[in-house]
Amino acid sequence: HKASSSITRFPLIPVRGVPLMNYIANNWDSIWDFCPDPSDLLIATYPKAGTTWTQEIVDLLLHNGDAEACKRAPTPVRSPFLEIFSPPPIPSGLDLLEKMDPPRVIKTHLPFQLVPPGFWENKCKAIYVARNAKDNLVSYYYFDLMNQTQPEPGPFGGYIHKFMQGQLSWGSWYDHVKGYWLEREKRNILYLFYEDMKENPRREVERIMKYLDLSVSDEVISQIVELTSFKNMKENPMANYSCVPSPVFDQSISPFMRKGEVGDWKNHFTAEQSKLFDEDYEKQMKDVDIPFRTLI
Ligand code: A3P
Repeated sequence: HKASSSITRFPLIPVRGVPLMNYIANNWDSIWDFCPDPSDLLIATYPKAGTTWTQEIVDLLLHNGDAEACKRAPTPVRSPFLEIFSPPPIPSGLDLLEKMDPPRVIKTHLPFQLVPPGFWENKCKAIYVARNAKDNLVSYYYFDLMNQTQPEPGPFGGYIHKFMQGQLSWGSWYDHVKGYWLEREKRNILYLFYEDMKENPRREVERIMKYLDLSVSDEVISQIVELTSFKNMKENPMANYSCVPSPVFDQSISPFMRKGEVGDWKNHFTAEQSKLFDEDYEKQMKDVDIPFRTLI
């Protein structure tokens, strides 16, 4: 009750030009100084690109597909969120990490340039998941409606502009996907796409397995694909964020496991909004060629 009474939609404060929730910005130095172990794995995403899904796949791979083992705790306890700071008594990501022994699986939404340099100095493995801008935006819009700590999304039309201008929490989607894309070879980052995971989850689970130098049987891979289907994760209390109290995540507004599809943007963008968005997209993305798909 104490925690819920202090829940509020936190204002954003820029950290090196990137808007972050004030609790994150106010603790920035301790986040930047975090030093991982070389055995730690980073899972990095722009918010709503498929983080939780990837965390679940990785945890299952690390536990040879053991469903019960992966129900030992909710996602953010099994795989802490590096930069998250909430009002006390909620533990920060750094508090949780301090109590865990490496190898740890660490989630972040930080853009590449804000990832603590210790990750690259220690040559940690990192998986980046990218999702096409329009679906990512729609998913983020619903999340901002239900997550009572994020700024109010306001009407959808205005939200599109905030997204295009990089004004949402964790900043510009365009800079985010480009930042990791440009560093992926140098830093040995596995760069995945949500759309590929939807299209052929087995292929992507196998890619993750190989990247992690793991080897699990074909049968276990099938089991992992099944356990990490949208439907099964939606019903899994250790994966569906029902661990977060309703004053924080009001899942009656929109469930965390909302739809899990490619192309839902078509149900939200008008033809005019889509045209405007695409024109701006061309400009913002002209310097890179990242093979995004808005439909599969
Ligand atoms: P939607 O809002 O489009 O449904 P994140 O974990 O990065 O916050 O991303 C959440 C998004 O990924 C939500 O998208 C959620 O439904 C979707 N998602 C979560 N688990 C999934 C799964 N197993 N398969 C497909 N989509 C999944």
